Amino acid sequence: MTEAFESIFKTKLAELLKTNRFGKSIYVFNELDSTQDYANALPITESVHGTIVIARKQNVGKGRIGRSWISPEGGLWMSIVIRPDFSADNIIFTQFIGALAVADAIQQATNIRSRLKWPNDVLINEKKVCGILVDVNLESKDKKIVMGLGLNANIESSLINNYLTADATKATTLKEEYGNDIDLVNLTKSIVDRIEYYYNFLSRGKALEIIALWKQNSDMFGRRAIVYDGIEKIMGEVIDIDQDGSLLMKLGDDSIKKITYYGNVTFH
Ligand code: BTN
Repeated sequence: MTEAFESIFKTKLAELLKTNRFGKSIYVFNELDSTQDYANALPITESVHGTIVIARKQNVGKGRIGRSWISPEGGLWMSIVIRPDFSADNIIFTQFIGALAVADAIQQATNIRSRLKWPNDVLINEKKVCGILVDVNLESKDKKIVMGLGLNANIESSLINNYLTADATKATTLKEEYGNDIDLVNLTKSIVDRIEYYYNFLSRGKALEIIALWKQNSDMFGRRAIVYDGIEKIMGEVIDIDQDGSLLMKLGDDSIKKITYYGNVTFH
């Protein structure tokens, strides 16, 4: 039964994908601790550029800043291995292309226009539907970036919200926003297609176009926000995304603060 899920998903996805490099190698599991850990640990010979790891559910899903990620059956839990052909300065844009790809795929499947929140969240009606986690290892011979996407697709948001701390952005799910279940294989196909599409911008040195597209898909600008890195809280108005991908905020004294670390952003 479970093996059927794995092979059906993999076969259908491989048939649907029209990409050149992304998704040429696909791993699907019924259950994993974390697709991110699995992809990070794959040996170089088994993780060509564009390799995808998917799990129907994760037992120890990982979020950003050491948080855990609730990953029951029904969600889309996927990690993608990227062996970048762009410079290290462009790594921050990996999460931008992931978020843009997810927003496009959501629009295609549901006609819902989601909005992006720096550094790497996708929101619907101000609630988080997808988070992106980027692990970078460019030190060893096995240079790779692993981009993890956690998309709350066909699940109940209460499963997640019951576990969130009071200050966390509330979660929503595609099923609740759209009113129906979404076909996960088609959704995965759209995301992977769009990741390849946006990745090619970075390969061609067009990071500024990625920033412009990202900004068109975000409502953050002009809003008052708090950025918290666990130590310092910065309050101000969100002004822009800088050319290096950092967030620019105007503080109370009208000075501009550049936020480069990936703190937690909330609006107020
Ligand atoms: C965030 O904190 O917003 C990022 C969440 C990323 C979750 C995804 S689910 C697939 C992949 N495997 C993991 O363990 N985490 C990422």
